[in-house]
Amino acid sequence: QDPRIARISSAIRVIPNFPKPGIMFQDITTLLLDTKAFKDTIDLFVERYRDKNISVVAGIEARGFIFGPPIALAIGAKFVPMRKPNKLPGEVISEEYSLEYGTDKMEMHVGAVQPGERALVIDDLIATGGTLSAAIKLLERVGVHVVECACVIELPELKGRERLVDKSLFVLVNAA
Ligand code: PRP
Ligand code: MG
Repeated sequence: QDPRIARISSAIRVIPNFPKPGIMFQDITTLLLDTKAFKDTIDLFVERYRDKNISVVAGIEARGFIFGPPIALAIGAKFVPMRKPNKLPGEVISEEYSLEYGTDKMEMHVGAVQPGERALVIDDLIATGGTLSAAIKLLERVGVHVVECACVIELPELKGRERLVDKSLFVLVNAA
């Protein structure tokens, strides 16, 4: 394993019982405070994606907005925000997805991407995989090829990876 992974892993703070009892919250704000670990995180993604002919980095609100833009700049791709409902001012396409309780919606601006473009989808963490699946669906609906999804952290027990079906998922750290 790449020696940078251990430092990244230990820079992520785990806060028990947030936001509710029984949840072990994976807090990436401490990773952002560790300048070496944060840089290593971005570098690992950039090394993987720089020669993959990716023209779109789609970042998922909110924490995909932290990791996506530096990757996009480094690989020469545009950054497209995948937002919570009713935030984007222009014409949008939207995709509903299920949460633990109820549903949520993800929106993207019409015209942000063109059919045939190659996209990387980025978020901080995959749990059930519902969020990433919605992003994949949105992009595929407009003819974009999703090359891969990438997250800093995976919660493997929740089997979110299986929900992405045939899409590959790249993660740096597995959380217990
Ligand atoms: C968290 C996390 C991922 C998503 C993963 O975001 O940042 O985006 O949950 O869960 P899933 O794999 O079960 O869909 P959250 O919805 O809490 O919002 P935030 O990033 O805006 O804080
Ligand atoms: Mg999120």
